[in-house]
Amino acid sequence: MRRWALAAKELEDSLYLPATALDAMASRFQQAMEQGLTGKGGSLKMLPSYLAGPTGKERGTFLALDFGGTNVRVALIELAGGQSRVLNRLSRPVRAADGRYDYSRQSATAEELFDFLASLIAETIGDHQGRFYLGHTFSFPARQENIGQATLIRWAKEFHTTGVEGHDVGQLLSDALARKGLKERVIPAAIINDTVGTLLTATYSDRHTRIGSIIGTGHNSCYLDRFVPAFQAPMVINMESGNFDGAPASVFDERLDGQSAQPGAQRLEKMVSGLYLGELLRLILLELIQTKGLFGGQASPVLERPYSLSAADLSDLQADGSAELSRVGDWLQARAAIEASEREERRLLQRIAAATACRSARLVAATYLAVLRHEDPALTLRHTIAIDGSLYEKMPGYAGALERALAELLAEKAGQVSVRLVKNGSEVGAAIAAAIVAAASD
Ligand code: BGC
Repeated sequence: MRRWALAAKELEDSLYLPATALDAMASRFQQAMEQGLTGKGGSLKMLPSYLAGPTGKERGTFLALDFGGTNVRVALIELAGGQSRVLNRLSRPVRAADGRYDYSRQSATAEELFDFLASLIAETIGDHQGRFYLGHTFSFPARQENIGQATLIRWAKEFHTTGVEGHDVGQLLSDALARKGLKERVIPAAIINDTVGTLLTATYSDRHTRIGSIIGTGHNSCYLDRFVPAFQAPMVINMESGNFDGAPASVFDERLDGQSAQPGAQRLEKMVSGLYLGELLRLILLELIQTKGLFGGQASPVLERPYSLSAADLSDLQADGSAELSRVGDWLQARAAIEASEREERRLLQRIAAATACRSARLVAATYLAVLRHEDPALTLRHTIAIDGSLYEKMPGYAGALERALAELLAEKAGQVSVRLVKNGSEVGAAIAAAIVAAASD
Protein backbone atom coordinates (compact mmCIF):
# COMPACT_ATOMS: atom_id res chain seq x y z
CA MET A 1 0.00 0.00 0.00
CA ARG A 2 1.26 3.46 -0.82
CA ARG A 3 2.14 5.88 1.95
CA TRP A 4 -0.81 8.19 1.31
CA ALA A 5 -3.25 5.31 0.99
CA LEU A 6 -2.21 3.89 4.34
CA ALA A 7 -2.30 7.27 6.06
CA ALA A 8 -5.68 8.07 4.56
CA LYS A 9 -7.10 4.73 5.68
CA GLU A 10 -5.87 5.34 9.23
CA LEU A 11 -7.34 8.79 9.15
CA GLU A 12 -10.67 7.57 7.88
CA ASP A 13 -10.77 4.97 10.66
CA SER A 14 -9.96 7.58 13.28
CA LEU A 15 -12.82 9.78 12.07
CA TYR A 16 -15.26 6.94 12.59
CA LEU A 17 -16.62 7.05 16.13
CA PRO A 18 -18.03 3.69 17.21
CA ALA A 19 -21.18 3.45 19.34
CA THR A 20 -19.11 2.95 22.51
CA ALA A 21 -17.33 6.28 21.99
CA LEU A 22 -20.64 8.03 21.29
CA ASP A 23 -22.23 6.48 24.34
CA ALA A 24 -19.39 7.70 26.53
CA MET A 25 -19.69 11.16 25.02
CA ALA A 26 -23.45 11.14 25.70
CA SER A 27 -22.70 10.48 29.38
CA ARG A 28 -20.32 13.44 29.51
CA PHE A 29 -22.88 15.59 27.72
CA GLN A 30 -25.62 14.58 30.17
CA GLN A 31 -23.34 15.44 33.07
CA ALA A 32 -22.62 18.85 31.55
CA MET A 33 -26.38 19.43 31.09
CA GLU A 34 -27.05 18.69 34.73
CA GLN A 35 -24.13 20.85 35.81
CA GLY A 36 -25.40 23.75 33.67
CA LEU A 37 -28.97 23.42 34.94
CA THR A 38 -27.87 23.65 38.54
CA GLY A 39 -25.73 26.71 37.83
CA LYS A 40 -22.41 24.96 38.42
CA GLY A 41 -20.83 26.23 35.21
CA GLY A 42 -19.27 24.02 32.54
CA SER A 43 -19.47 24.16 28.77
CA LEU A 44 -23.26 23.88 28.44
CA LYS A 45 -24.97 27.14 29.35
CA MET A 46 -28.50 25.66 29.52
CA LEU A 47 -30.22 29.00 28.97
CA PRO A 48 -33.87 29.27 29.99
CA SER A 49 -36.10 30.59 27.19
CA TYR A 50 -39.06 31.64 29.37
CA LEU A 51 -41.40 29.63 27.16
CA ALA A 52 -42.97 26.23 27.69
CA GLY A 53 -44.39 25.66 24.21
CA PRO A 54 -47.54 26.48 22.27
CA THR A 55 -51.02 25.02 22.84
CA GLY A 56 -51.49 24.63 19.07
CA LYS A 57 -54.45 27.02 19.21
CA GLU A 58 -52.55 30.30 18.74
CA ARG A 59 -54.15 32.45 16.02
CA GLY A 60 -53.67 35.82 14.35
CA THR A 61 -51.16 37.71 12.21
CA PHE A 62 -47.69 38.31 13.62
CA LEU A 63 -44.37 39.72 12.54
CA ALA A 64 -41.32 37.47 12.56
CA LEU A 65 -37.77 38.79 12.42
CA ASP A 66 -35.20 36.08 11.80
CA PHE A 67 -31.61 37.15 12.38
CA GLY A 68 -28.93 34.56 12.74
CA GLY A 69 -26.52 34.14 9.91
CA THR A 70 -26.14 34.98 6.28
CA ASN A 71 -29.56 36.53 5.68
CA VAL A 72 -32.03 38.59 7.68
CA ARG A 73 -35.61 37.63 7.02
CA VAL A 74 -38.73 39.46 8.04
CA ALA A 75 -42.16 37.94 7.49
CA LEU A 76 -45.77 38.64 8.23
CA ILE A 77 -47.22 35.31 9.26
CA GLU A 78 -50.79 34.21 9.81
CA LEU A 79 -51.24 31.51 12.42
CA ALA A 80 -54.39 29.46 12.15
CA GLY A 81 -54.30 26.90 14.96
CA GLY A 82 -51.67 24.29 14.07
CA GLN A 83 -51.04 25.79 10.63
CA SER A 84 -49.23 28.84 9.37
CA ARG A 85 -49.18 30.93 6.21
CA VAL A 86 -46.65 33.53 5.13
CA LEU A 87 -48.41 36.69 3.91
CA ASN A 88 -45.33 38.69 3.02
CA ARG A 89 -41.63 37.97 3.29
CA LEU A 90 -38.44 39.86 2.70
CA SER A 91 -34.89 38.58 2.84
CA ARG A 92 -31.62 40.55 2.70
CA PRO A 93 -28.03 39.48 3.19
CA VAL A 94 -26.15 40.80 6.21
CA ARG A 95 -23.13 41.24 3.94
CA ALA A 96 -23.95 42.68 0.51
CA ALA A 97 -22.46 40.61 -2.31
CA ASP A 98 -21.23 43.77 -4.07
CA GLY A 99 -19.48 44.98 -0.90
CA ARG A 100 -21.82 47.99 -0.42
CA TYR A 101 -22.35 47.12 3.23
CA ASP A 102 -21.41 44.48 5.79
CA TYR A 103 -23.18 44.70 9.14
CA SER A 104 -21.22 41.77 10.57
CA ARG A 105 -17.80 43.42 10.48
CA GLN A 106 -16.18 45.10 13.45
CA SER A 107 -16.44 48.61 11.99
CA ALA A 108 -20.24 48.28 11.82
CA THR A 109 -22.06 49.57 14.92
CA ALA A 110 -25.06 48.13 16.78
CA GLU A 111 -27.08 51.17 15.69
CA GLU A 112 -26.32 50.60 12.02
CA LEU A 113 -27.19 46.92 12.28
CA PHE A 114 -30.48 47.47 14.14
CA ASP A 115 -31.48 50.41 11.90
CA PHE A 116 -31.04 48.01 8.99
CA LEU A 117 -33.34 45.47 10.74
CA ALA A 118 -35.94 48.19 11.49
CA SER A 119 -35.94 49.33 7.87
CA LEU A 120 -36.63 45.75 6.73
CA ILE A 121 -39.52 45.54 9.23
CA ALA A 122 -40.95 48.81 7.84
CA GLU A 123 -40.69 47.46 4.31
CA THR A 124 -42.40 44.19 5.24
CA ILE A 125 -45.35 45.89 6.93
CA GLY A 126 -45.79 48.06 3.82
CA ASP A 127 -49.49 48.86 3.42
CA HIS A 128 -50.74 46.28 5.91
CA GLN A 129 -52.92 48.03 8.48
CA GLY A 130 -52.90 47.54 12.23
CA ARG A 131 -50.43 46.86 15.05
CA PHE A 132 -48.31 43.77 15.10
CA TYR A 133 -46.71 41.75 17.84
CA LEU A 134 -43.18 40.86 16.77
CA GLY A 135 -41.23 37.70 17.51
CA HIS A 136 -37.48 37.99 17.07
CA THR A 137 -35.32 34.95 16.42
CA PHE A 138 -31.79 35.80 17.45
CA SER A 139 -29.53 32.83 16.78
CA PHE A 140 -26.58 33.57 19.00
CA PRO A 141 -25.84 32.70 22.61
CA ALA A 142 -27.93 35.13 24.62
CA ARG A 143 -28.90 35.16 28.29
CA GLN A 144 -32.52 35.98 29.06
CA GLU A 145 -34.26 37.09 32.21
CA ASN A 146 -37.62 37.28 30.53
CA ILE A 147 -39.06 36.54 27.11
CA GLY A 148 -38.70 40.10 25.80
CA GLN A 149 -35.06 40.62 26.67
CA ALA A 150 -31.85 38.87 25.61
CA THR A 151 -28.27 39.87 26.34
CA LEU A 152 -25.76 38.68 23.76
CA ILE A 153 -23.10 36.69 25.60
CA ARG A 154 -20.67 36.47 22.70
CA TRP A 155 -20.93 36.65 18.93
CA ALA A 156 -20.59 33.37 16.99
CA LYS A 157 -20.51 32.50 13.28
CA GLU A 158 -17.77 35.04 12.60
CA PHE A 159 -19.88 38.11 13.51
CA HIS A 160 -17.96 41.05 14.97
CA THR A 161 -20.41 44.02 14.98
CA THR A 162 -19.41 46.51 17.69
CA GLY A 163 -21.65 47.38 20.64
CA VAL A 164 -23.87 44.30 20.73
CA GLU A 165 -21.98 41.88 23.01
CA GLY A 166 -23.13 42.41 26.58
CA HIS A 167 -26.17 44.41 25.42
CA ASP A 168 -29.88 43.63 25.36
CA VAL A 169 -30.84 43.03 21.73
CA GLY A 170 -34.50 43.66 22.66
CA GLN A 171 -33.61 47.20 23.72
CA LEU A 172 -31.42 47.75 20.66
CA LEU A 173 -34.32 46.77 18.40
CA SER A 174 -36.89 48.86 20.31
CA ASP A 175 -34.62 51.90 20.01
CA ALA A 176 -34.19 51.34 16.28
CA LEU A 177 -37.98 50.89 15.81
CA ALA A 178 -38.52 54.19 17.65
CA ARG A 179 -35.97 55.94 15.40
CA LYS A 180 -37.92 54.60 12.40
CA GLY A 181 -41.25 55.89 13.79
CA LEU A 182 -42.58 52.35 14.22
CA LYS A 183 -43.14 52.41 17.97
CA GLU A 184 -46.93 52.47 17.63
CA ARG A 185 -47.14 49.86 14.88
CA VAL A 186 -44.78 47.18 16.16
CA ILE A 187 -44.80 45.61 19.63
CA PRO A 188 -41.58 43.62 20.24
CA ALA A 189 -42.96 40.68 22.23
CA ALA A 190 -40.52 37.78 22.27
CA ILE A 191 -36.88 36.93 21.61
CA ILE A 192 -36.02 33.31 20.93
CA ASN A 193 -33.12 31.22 19.68
CA ASP A 194 -33.55 29.53 16.27
CA THR A 195 -33.53 26.08 17.87
CA VAL A 196 -36.42 27.23 20.07
CA GLY A 197 -38.22 28.48 16.95
CA THR A 198 -37.76 25.09 15.33
CA LEU A 199 -39.09 23.33 18.43
CA LEU A 200 -42.12 25.67 18.71
CA THR A 201 -42.95 25.24 15.03
CA ALA A 202 -42.83 21.46 15.22
CA THR A 203 -44.75 21.32 18.52
CA TYR A 204 -47.47 23.53 17.02
CA SER A 205 -48.58 20.50 14.99
CA ASP A 206 -46.91 17.57 16.81
CA ARG A 207 -47.06 17.51 20.61
CA HIS A 208 -44.43 14.76 20.84
CA THR A 209 -41.70 17.17 19.74
CA ARG A 210 -39.34 17.77 22.62
CA ILE A 211 -36.02 18.53 20.94
CA GLY A 212 -35.35 21.33 18.42
CA SER A 213 -32.02 21.44 16.64
CA ILE A 214 -30.14 23.31 13.94
CA ILE A 215 -27.42 21.69 11.87
CA GLY A 216 -26.47 24.36 9.35
CA THR A 217 -23.89 27.14 9.35
CA GLY A 218 -23.97 26.82 13.14
CA HIS A 219 -25.08 24.04 15.44
CA ASN A 220 -27.17 24.02 18.59
CA SER A 221 -30.11 22.22 20.21
CA CYS A 222 -32.82 23.00 22.72
CA TYR A 223 -35.33 20.77 24.48
CA LEU A 224 -38.45 21.02 26.56
CA ASP A 225 -37.44 20.22 30.12
CA ARG A 226 -40.51 18.88 31.88
CA PHE A 227 -39.39 20.25 35.21
CA VAL A 228 -36.68 22.83 35.72
CA PRO A 229 -35.95 22.98 39.46
CA ALA A 230 -34.96 26.66 39.41
CA PHE A 231 -38.40 27.57 38.01
CA GLN A 232 -40.42 24.70 39.48
CA ALA A 233 -41.99 24.45 36.01
CA PRO A 234 -41.53 23.08 32.51
CA MET A 235 -39.41 25.24 30.22
CA VAL A 236 -37.64 25.13 26.89
CA ILE A 237 -33.89 25.20 27.53
CA ASN A 238 -31.47 26.51 24.91
CA MET A 239 -28.44 24.33 25.60
CA GLU A 240 -26.00 26.21 23.33
CA SER A 241 -24.74 22.69 22.70
CA GLY A 242 -22.28 23.91 20.07
CA ASN A 243 -20.14 25.01 22.99
CA PHE A 244 -19.86 21.48 24.46
CA ASP A 245 -16.19 20.67 25.01
CA GLY A 246 -16.32 16.93 25.70
CA ALA A 247 -16.39 15.46 22.18
CA PRO A 248 -13.40 13.31 21.14
CA ALA A 249 -11.29 15.78 19.17
CA SER A 250 -8.66 14.92 16.55
CA VAL A 251 -5.42 16.80 15.84
CA PHE A 252 -7.25 18.55 13.01
CA ASP A 253 -9.96 19.78 15.39
CA GLU A 254 -7.25 21.11 17.70
CA ARG A 255 -5.56 22.86 14.80
CA LEU A 256 -8.80 24.40 13.53
CA ASP A 257 -9.73 25.59 17.01
CA GLY A 258 -6.26 27.05 17.65
CA GLN A 259 -6.41 29.06 14.42
CA SER A 260 -10.02 30.24 14.89
CA ALA A 261 -11.18 33.70 16.02
CA GLN A 262 -12.15 32.34 19.45
CA PRO A 263 -10.01 29.36 20.47
CA GLY A 264 -11.65 27.18 23.11
CA ALA A 265 -15.18 28.39 22.30
CA GLN A 266 -17.85 26.45 20.37
CA ARG A 267 -15.74 23.27 20.30
CA LEU A 268 -18.53 20.92 19.21
CA GLU A 269 -19.81 23.41 16.65
CA LYS A 270 -16.32 23.50 15.13
CA MET A 271 -16.47 19.71 14.68
CA VAL A 272 -19.95 19.50 13.19
CA SER A 273 -21.34 22.64 11.60
CA GLY A 274 -21.36 23.86 8.02
CA LEU A 275 -19.12 26.82 8.73
CA TYR A 276 -16.26 24.52 9.72
CA LEU A 277 -16.59 21.20 7.85
CA GLY A 278 -14.93 22.60 4.72
CA GLU A 279 -12.03 23.89 6.78
CA LEU A 280 -11.60 20.52 8.47
CA LEU A 281 -11.47 18.80 5.10
CA ARG A 282 -8.93 21.36 3.89
CA LEU A 283 -6.66 20.76 6.89
CA ILE A 284 -6.85 16.98 6.41
CA LEU A 285 -6.13 17.16 2.68
CA LEU A 286 -3.25 19.54 3.16
CA GLU A 287 -1.64 17.16 5.63
CA LEU A 288 -2.06 14.16 3.32
CA ILE A 289 -0.69 16.10 0.36
CA GLN A 290 2.24 17.74 2.11
CA THR A 291 3.43 14.92 4.35
CA LYS A 292 2.18 11.72 2.70
CA GLY A 293 2.50 12.55 -0.99
CA LEU A 294 -1.20 12.37 -1.88
CA PHE A 295 -1.82 13.61 -5.47
CA GLY A 296 1.94 13.40 -5.94
CA GLY A 297 2.36 16.20 -3.38
CA GLN A 298 1.18 18.81 -5.92
CA ALA A 299 1.11 22.29 -4.42
CA SER A 300 -2.25 24.03 -4.32
CA PRO A 301 -2.35 27.73 -3.38
CA VAL A 302 -6.12 27.42 -2.96
CA LEU A 303 -5.85 24.64 -0.41
CA GLU A 304 -3.26 26.63 1.47
CA ARG A 305 -5.76 29.44 2.03
CA PRO A 306 -7.80 29.06 5.26
CA TYR A 307 -11.54 28.56 4.78
CA SER A 308 -11.14 28.12 1.02
CA LEU A 309 -13.38 25.03 1.18
CA SER A 310 -16.97 24.99 2.37
CA ALA A 311 -19.59 22.45 3.38
CA ALA A 312 -20.97 22.69 -0.17
CA ASP A 313 -17.68 21.16 -1.34
CA LEU A 314 -18.26 18.16 0.93
CA SER A 315 -21.73 17.83 -0.59
CA ASP A 316 -20.37 17.99 -4.16
CA LEU A 317 -17.74 15.38 -3.42
CA GLN A 318 -20.24 12.99 -1.86
CA ALA A 319 -22.82 13.46 -4.61
CA ASP A 320 -20.70 11.77 -7.30
CA GLY A 321 -22.13 8.27 -7.70
CA SER A 322 -20.33 7.47 -10.97
CA ALA A 323 -18.02 4.47 -11.21
CA GLU A 324 -15.01 6.52 -12.32
CA LEU A 325 -15.72 9.40 -9.92
CA SER A 326 -15.13 11.84 -12.74
CA ARG A 327 -16.97 14.66 -10.94
CA VAL A 328 -14.64 14.28 -7.97
CA GLY A 329 -11.75 14.69 -10.41
CA ASP A 330 -13.40 17.75 -11.98
CA TRP A 331 -13.96 19.20 -8.52
CA LEU A 332 -10.31 18.80 -7.59
CA GLN A 333 -9.22 20.40 -10.83
CA ALA A 334 -11.66 23.31 -10.60
CA ARG A 335 -11.37 24.02 -6.87
CA ALA A 336 -7.77 23.15 -6.07
CA ALA A 337 -6.06 23.07 -9.49
CA ILE A 338 -4.86 19.54 -8.74
CA GLU A 339 -4.86 16.58 -11.12
CA ALA A 340 -6.00 13.23 -9.69
CA SER A 341 -5.27 10.78 -12.45
CA GLU A 342 -5.87 7.65 -10.38
CA ARG A 343 -9.35 6.52 -9.46
CA GLU A 344 -8.06 5.35 -6.09
CA GLU A 345 -7.04 8.92 -5.24
CA ARG A 346 -10.44 10.29 -6.22
CA ARG A 347 -12.18 7.61 -4.20
CA LEU A 348 -10.06 8.40 -1.19
CA LEU A 349 -10.92 12.08 -1.44
CA GLN A 350 -14.61 11.22 -1.54
CA ARG A 351 -14.27 8.86 1.42
CA ILE A 352 -12.50 11.44 3.57
CA ALA A 353 -15.25 13.98 2.79
CA ALA A 354 -17.89 11.40 3.69
CA ALA A 355 -16.09 10.40 6.91
CA THR A 356 -15.87 14.05 8.01
CA ALA A 357 -19.59 14.57 7.40
CA CYS A 358 -20.56 11.24 8.95
CA ARG A 359 -18.59 12.04 12.10
CA SER A 360 -20.56 15.27 12.40
CA ALA A 361 -23.88 13.41 12.17
CA ARG A 362 -22.80 10.82 14.74
CA LEU A 363 -21.58 13.44 17.22
CA VAL A 364 -24.91 15.24 16.99
CA ALA A 365 -26.78 11.95 17.52
CA ALA A 366 -24.81 11.42 20.75
CA THR A 367 -26.04 14.77 22.07
CA TYR A 368 -29.66 13.79 21.34
CA LEU A 369 -29.11 10.54 23.22
CA ALA A 370 -27.98 12.55 26.25
CA VAL A 371 -31.11 14.73 26.19
CA LEU A 372 -33.38 11.70 25.83
CA ARG A 373 -31.68 10.03 28.79
CA HIS A 374 -32.01 13.17 30.87
CA GLU A 375 -35.69 13.62 30.08
CA ASP A 376 -36.96 10.07 29.83
CA PRO A 377 -34.33 7.51 30.94
CA ALA A 378 -36.53 4.46 30.28
CA LEU A 379 -37.86 5.95 27.04
CA THR A 380 -41.46 5.35 27.94
CA LEU A 381 -42.68 8.32 25.88
CA ARG A 382 -42.60 8.99 22.15
CA HIS A 383 -40.18 11.72 21.09
CA THR A 384 -39.91 13.72 17.89
CA ILE A 385 -36.67 15.55 17.20
CA ALA A 386 -37.22 18.56 14.92
CA ILE A 387 -34.20 19.56 12.86
CA ASP A 388 -33.57 22.44 10.48
CA GLY A 389 -30.39 23.51 8.70
CA SER A 390 -28.62 23.03 5.39
CA LEU A 391 -26.45 20.08 6.43
CA TYR A 392 -29.35 17.98 7.63
CA GLU A 393 -31.57 19.05 4.76
CA LYS A 394 -29.19 19.02 1.83
CA MET A 395 -25.92 17.19 2.38
CA PRO A 396 -26.03 13.79 0.64
CA GLY A 397 -26.08 10.99 3.20
CA TYR A 398 -26.15 13.27 6.26
CA ALA A 399 -29.72 12.68 7.50
CA GLY A 400 -29.33 8.93 6.92
CA ALA A 401 -26.07 8.80 8.90
CA LEU A 402 -27.68 10.68 11.79
CA GLU A 403 -30.73 8.45 11.87
CA ARG A 404 -28.64 5.28 11.68
CA ALA A 405 -26.42 6.46 14.54
CA LEU A 406 -29.45 7.23 16.67
CA ALA A 407 -31.01 3.83 15.93
CA GLU A 408 -27.72 2.13 16.83
CA LEU A 409 -27.50 4.04 20.12
CA LEU A 410 -31.14 3.55 21.11
CA ALA A 411 -31.16 -0.15 20.16
CA GLU A 412 -34.55 -1.75 20.95
CA LYS A 413 -36.01 1.61 22.01
CA ALA A 414 -35.31 3.21 18.62
CA GLY A 415 -39.00 3.03 17.65
CA GLN A 416 -39.84 5.59 20.35
CA VAL A 417 -37.84 8.34 18.65
CA SER A 418 -38.42 9.91 15.26
CA VAL A 419 -36.50 12.63 13.50
CA ARG A 420 -38.16 15.22 11.30
CA LEU A 421 -37.04 18.05 9.03
CA VAL A 422 -38.75 21.32 9.96
CA LYS A 423 -38.17 24.11 7.49
CA ASN A 424 -38.45 27.81 8.33
CA GLY A 425 -38.82 26.98 11.99
CA SER A 426 -36.91 30.05 13.06
CA GLU A 427 -39.39 32.23 11.18
CA VAL A 428 -42.69 30.54 12.04
CA GLY A 429 -41.44 29.92 15.58
CA ALA A 430 -40.89 33.65 16.09
CA ALA A 431 -44.53 34.27 15.12
CA ILE A 432 -45.68 31.52 17.50
CA ALA A 433 -43.63 32.99 20.35
CA ALA A 434 -45.16 36.43 19.67
CA ALA A 435 -48.62 34.82 19.69
CA ILE A 436 -47.96 33.11 23.04
CA VAL A 437 -46.93 36.44 24.57
CA ALA A 438 -49.84 38.30 22.95
CA ALA A 439 -52.31 35.74 24.33
CA ALA A 440 -50.83 36.08 27.81
CA SER A 441 -51.03 39.90 27.74
CA ASP A 442 -54.63 40.09 26.45
C1 BGC B 1 -25.30 29.86 18.00
C2 BGC B 1 -26.64 29.32 18.45
C3 BGC B 1 -27.51 28.97 17.25
C4 BGC B 1 -26.74 28.05 16.30
C5 BGC B 1 -27.55 27.69 15.06
C6 BGC B 1 -24.66 28.92 17.00
O1 BGC B 1 -23.49 29.48 16.48
O2 BGC B 1 -24.44 30.03 19.11
O3 BGC B 1 -27.32 30.25 19.27
O4 BGC B 1 -28.68 28.35 17.70
O5 BGC B 1 -25.54 28.66 15.91
O6 BGC B 1 -27.87 28.79 14.30
